[in-house]
Amino acid sequence: SKALLFSLLFSDFLFESCAASSKDNAAISPERTLVWGPGLNSDVVLPVRYFYIQAVNYAGGNITQSPAGKEAFRVEIKTLSSREFLRIHVPQPLDRNDGSFLMRYRMYGTANEGLKIEIFHEDKYVAQSPYILKGPVYHEYCDCPVKDPQTWQTVISCPDKEPQISKDFSAFPSIDLQWMLKEISERFVEQVGGIVHYTILSNKIYRRTLGKYTDFKRFSDEMLLSLTRKVHLPDVEFYISVGDWPLEHRHVNDTPGPIPIISWCGSADTRDIVLPTYDITYSTLETLRGVTNDLLSIQGNTGPPWSKKIEQAFFRGRDSREERLELVRLSKEYPELLDAGITRYFFFREKEKELGKAELTNFFDFFQYKYQVNVDGTVAAYRFPYLILGDSLVLKQESSYYEHFYSSLIPWKHYVPIKRNLKDLIEKIKWAKEHDKKARKIAKEGQALARELLQPHRLYCYYYKVFQMYAMCQTNRPEIREGMELIPQPADNNSFCNCQNNKPQKEEL
Ligand SMILES: *[C@@H]1O[C@H](CO)[C@@H](O)[C@H](O)[C@H]1NC(C)=O
Ligand SMILES: *[C@@H]1O[C@H](CO)[C@@H](O)[C@H](O)[C@H]1NC(C)=O
Repeated sequence: SKALLFSLLFSDFLFESCAASSKDNAAISPERTLVWGPGLNSDVVLPVRYFYIQAVNYAGGNITQSPAGKEAFRVEIKTLSSREFLRIHVPQPLDRNDGSFLMRYRMYGTANEGLKIEIFHEDKYVAQSPYILKGPVYHEYCDCPVKDPQTWQTVISCPDKEPQISKDFSAFPSIDLQWMLKEISERFVEQVGGIVHYTILSNKIYRRTLGKYTDFKRFSDEMLLSLTRKVHLPDVEFYISVGDWPLEHRHVNDTPGPIPIISWCGSADTRDIVLPTYDITYSTLETLRGVTNDLLSIQGNTGPPWSKKIEQAFFRGRDSREERLELVRLSKEYPELLDAGITRYFFFREKEKELGKAELTNFFDFFQYKYQVNVDGTVAAYRFPYLILGDSLVLKQESSYYEHFYSSLIPWKHYVPIKRNLKDLIEKIKWAKEHDKKARKIAKEGQALARELLQPHRLYCYYYKVFQMYAMCQTNRPEIREGMELIPQPADNNSFCNCQNNKPQKEEL
């Protein structure tokens, strides 16, 4: 007990000394500040390149709050050679409100000689700044695929394993393309919205569409074009369902067995192979261009700090599922706990009178609220990746639908689960209010994992690995089928791409 007394005194002492020096602890040390990420490596070609800055104090401790005063860090990105002119969109670093920053930049051409990235804190260089990226630093539109996929995967730091992919392919030890060709047209084309049939041969993309509603092919086209500009894909022939629902209901042991249709959403009752949704894929391609909500921008728009958020659960969305209407009813009954509204009626128009219609809310403003309710839409709610990247606690409806990354998330660790019928929602909101520390911790852990899993370069890794697995399981050669057309790469006028990656290939010819 003497030891206990001593340790108590000692910890008191420590506490006081920390408090006394806390002011200094908030001061940023330019030398000790950490900078890392794929955007510092010229070989990681992405539509928008990005890296991270973690503010560190003079004692070497991470700063965990948004540094006082604006513009803690300033970033300048220029071509290495003053003879080379290039437009580069360099917005302010995104303040992630926890002492870390996310820096994005989009190039409008190739930097043949290279780039110079300078990061300043109060006019002093930060970390190893300036960073020199040796050229060529390719534009997104450069058709310069890396021949050896292993090299490419190492350069962009793909993980060795993607558990969801292994699980998805466990149902398909072999893929018979001839049989699929027959099955698809017999079983699916008449009944579903749309399927896009692709063949990739020698890294060129061919496709035809099956079914009526195939407009969404532009998302899969864009991603495949972007991927084949970066890495040489194996020869593959596959089908992407561009409708909402996963399709293959046959079980592994059924005869005949299931076929590996690729979808954007999976479910416990189906055997479809999932890819990242068109939503996060497209917004990744269009970051800093055609979209405002994307996996990067969301990180700098997570609302006020936790303690200043409104202590209510929040929901806005369309009426695409009955439970969403139930949310509005609960919201009327418990207005102090839940603010839920339907912004557009389509499926349950007759309910509009009773339940009312809510104004549209800017997505970034969702994070004014401490708790976010995630309820399925037609399938999984594609807002979930954005919600979990925010700085709020996500209350997620139990669901058999999933996106490509859900299997890494653990209920009560990364989000709070709620029953499918929402019967325990109010109770769970009360729980969160009464256990603020725990709620905060779950929100943080969910966010940390999402920040890791949902990095744009990881989406490219995921796509690649799906096609790699698929190619390994094919038992016959992919072919260009009747009705397929070549999907060409965009003509690249803005940037002359002198592909070094392609050189050996040309010599072979
Ligand atoms: C400081 O932040 C960096 C970057 O987020 C992280 O890798 C490191 O573990 C943190 N250090 C501590 C002691 O938390
Ligand atoms: C790109 O090149 C094509 C064909 O040479 C030409 O028709 C088009 O106007 C060019 N676009 C731009 C933006 O220069």
